[in-house]
Amino acid sequence: MNITVFLGAPGSGKGTQAKRLSTAHGFKHFSTGDMLRVAIQEEKPVGLKAKGFMDKGELVPDSIMIELIEEALSHVSGTAKVLLDGFPRTVAQAKALDSNPRTQVSLALYFIVPEETLIRRLTGRRICKKCGESFHLEFMPPKANSICDKCGSQLTQRPDDSESVARHRLTVFRSQNEGLLSYYTSAKKLKEIAADNNVDEIQNTLAGILK
Ligand code: AP5
Repeated sequence: MNITVFLGAPGSGKGTQAKRLSTAHGFKHFSTGDMLRVAIQEEKPVGLKAKGFMDKGELVPDSIMIELIEEALSHVSGTAKVLLDGFPRTVAQAKALDSNPRTQVSLALYFIVPEETLIRRLTGRRICKKCGESFHLEFMPPKANSICDKCGSQLTQRPDDSESVARHRLTVFRSQNEGLLSYYTSAKKLKEIAADNNVDEIQNTLAGILK
């Protein structure tokens, strides 16, 4: 497997870019946040364990997350190009990936966005309850108010995108980020991406790096 991990604060655009790259360039995309939200909707045990942490903006314990991603990657072909969005979030998670020769990380891309832009992106985000498509009230508005362009279902705000929980998520992110950046810097795998410009420009930069 050729694994690239997307690192960056909540709202830095990891999911938006990873979805586009998987459609346009054939990457297999795993978003641990999306996987947990599906597990909650389907009332799976892992979702029930994770929900309380997610609603408060806390990280789900490493043991749960490592098991979740190991299980998902065990079904992926050894020749696949994989994007991990939202994993790893801690050094323990990064080490777990590298401890298995099959899932060692090739590249870590760190999305950099100023904090106040992150808050605007998070509080303005709306997602489709049915198909998971993501919009933004200001930056990527749906064609019809509160209706998904893709499947016509109702759009909703993630419970953890309220301003108070979003700010707490940023604090939690900062508490883990230095360690993760040091880990990938020491391994000479870290590359920084200016992720404050428009979606297409960032996509072109990423496509150039990952081709
Ligand atoms: P998760 O869903 O992964 O949330 P996150 O990392 O906080 O990331 P986001 O989805 O908020 O942001 P993003 O960077 O993907 O931005 P997006 O592209 O959507 O995790 C949720 C929770 O699950 C965690 O808090 C934790 O509890 C748990 N969890 C998940 N993984 C875990 C792990 N490994 N360990 C422990 N716990 C874990 O963009 C945001 C908005 O901005 C969108 O509206 C978008 O339209 C807009 N936008 C994007 N790019 C641009 C741009 N360039 N210009 C303008 N607007 C833009």
